[in-house]
Order: sequence, then C-alpha cells, then structure tokens
Amino acid sequence: MPDGHDVSLFTIRNSRGMTARVSEFGAVLVSLEMPDRNGQVADLTLGYDSLEGWSTDNAYLGATVGRFGNRIKDGTFSLDGKTYQLATNNTPGGIPCHLHGGLKGFDKVLWKGEARENSVIFRYLSRDGEEGYLGNLDVTVTYTLTEENELLWEAKAVTDAPTIVNLVHHTYWNLSGDPRQSINDHLLQIHADHFLPTDAGLIPTGQLAAVADTPLDFTSPRLIGERVEEDYEALHLAGGYDHCWVLRPTEGLRLAASLTHPSSGRKMEVFTDQPAIQFYGGNFLDGTIMGKLGHSYAHRTGLCLETENFPDAPNQPSFPSAILRPGEVYQHKMIHRFTTEPTV
Ligand code: BGC
Repeated sequence: MPDGHDVSLFTIRNSRGMTARVSEFGAVLVSLEMPDRNGQVADLTLGYDSLEGWSTDNAYLGATVGRFGNRIKDGTFSLDGKTYQLATNNTPGGIPCHLHGGLKGFDKVLWKGEARENSVIFRYLSRDGEEGYLGNLDVTVTYTLTEENELLWEAKAVTDAPTIVNLVHHTYWNLSGDPRQSINDHLLQIHADHFLPTDAGLIPTGQLAAVADTPLDFTSPRLIGERVEEDYEALHLAGGYDHCWVLRPTEGLRLAASLTHPSSGRKMEVFTDQPAIQFYGGNFLDGTIMGKLGHSYAHRTGLCLETENFPDAPNQPSFPSAILRPGEVYQHKMIHRFTTEPTV
C-alpha cells in the first residue's frame, strides 16, 4: 500500500480444478478459475492484475460492498428520529444518491485475513462516523471453496449503536472466461415474480411490479441479449438490466438465480438467504477500465448477481428493515455453485 502496509493475497484450491484468490484489500474476490465442459480452465471474473488497479477501481469489481450496498435516495435517511447525511457519490440520470458505502467503502479498506483450511476469514472494524454512518461496526466476511465446486461468501456484522447495514458481494462474471466477449449470450433465470421499479435516479419508487409480460421476466431461462434493447421504460431508465428482483419469501437459503454459458457449458447457481437480488448487466462498462491481462472491459462484458436487502430500504417503511441494533447480528449467506452442462 502507498502507506507501507502489506496486503496479503490468499489462494484457495479444491481438487476439482477450481481456484479462488481473495485479497485483504477490500476483501475482494480477485479471481475464480474453473474448467469448462472440456476441462479448459479460465478465470470467470473481471478484475485487475495489481493492487493499484483494485485501489483506483470505481466499478466495484469483485468487491465486498458496505456499509450499505446499492442506492440510498439523496444519501440521507432517518433513524430513531435523527437524520443522517451520507456522501452522494453517484449521479444516475444526473440525480445524486449514495451508492455502495460512499467515497471510501468497504471495497477500499484494508481487512485482516486469516486462512482456515478451505476458507479465508476477513475482519474489519468500521469506526463510528466512518462515511457518516453511526456506530462501530465489527464485520467478518468469509470466503470458502468447497469440494462440491461451491464458492461461499458469508458476511456477519455487529454494532454498538443503531445503524444500517446491507453488505453485498459484487463480482462481475463472464462465464465464457473471455472478457472480450459479451455476456448477452448467457442464459439467465431469476426466481422472482416481482421487481422494484425506479425513478430516473434509479431509486425504487416503493412499488413492487410483476415481471410477467415484461422483458424483466426471467422466471424461465432466457438469453440476456434477447430483450435488453426492448422499448420498455425500466430498461431505458437503467440503460439495460440494472434492477432489483424481489425473491419469493422463504426461511433460510433458496435458489435465487441460475446463469449458464451454453458454448462452454459452465453454469453458476446463486443461493441466498437475502430478500432480493440485483442483476446488473454491466451497462456502465465502456472500455475505459484496463483489467487483467491488458483487457479493457467493454459494454456488457461482465454481469453482477448481487444478493441483498432492497435498495433505499432505510427510506421505505414497506421494505424489509435494514436497521441493525446492538445485540443483534447481521447475517448474509451467498453460495455460488458451479457445474458444467453437456452439449445440447
Ligand atoms: C449497480 C449499478 C452500478 C454498479 C457500479 C451495481 O451494483 O446496480 O447501477 O453502476 O453497481 O459498478
């Protein structure tokens, strides 16, 4: 680090050809290598070759996002009668909002990592007042790579004063393993019947809209590119897919989304205990990011499947609460299960 701190990079391998690399900087997933149906191994994530890349990143590649992932309207919210003002570090449609934790979110801080068998546990203490948030927040994020080809991301947090929390894992996936290729040829299924419509600033209106008969209906597997250019207001506002889907309510873990890349046969299923998932189709990638191996990341060459609480939940009484109080434990579990499918 420029200030002289050392940063550790951890490698976790399983016996089936998968390798995950995770860094103390930002608790980011640096890479995830996996064979295709013919045994050809490739890295399925967008990212950087050096620490400098990760520290100047503004697209949250591979990030652990916090304290509050996704957007907060005007960067402000009230809690127990007091109003808080956070940084407004994002301006979709020219309208300022708070995004992904602020000017220096959890993706830009140094965590302390500890290796345990097939896991790495990262710890970070976010001090009271950091980025305008109240309370000392003690956070752990654990990455695990199993012999069943599952990558687990688990977050926990406790606080000493009431605060808001929405920790999000933000890897950009391209299951082809070649970030020069578009993700529009991936098949996506999202197990959700509703999404959250937004205003021009990409802030939810508070309504839930049915996906049926819209280009946001992924209840059965659909090619991402098939309907992304359709004349539909929600697609126009976001410049493509960049919406929060409301998952069917359940206790514990359930399948939220399945992503398949037909020509390589790679498939990723995402399980979560969270109420929602943001599918972001990489609309803001514009070729300016210089990524791994000198590749620049063009429009829609990576996609995020971010399990989370609802965006702007602190300002929407009808949304699930994002408040964490002393004595409570914030918990978020996300499993990525990788398989390959035979040629069809
Ligand atoms: C959001 C996008 C945003 C991106 C930043 C995603 O989680 O949905 O709107 O531009 O993060 O990289």
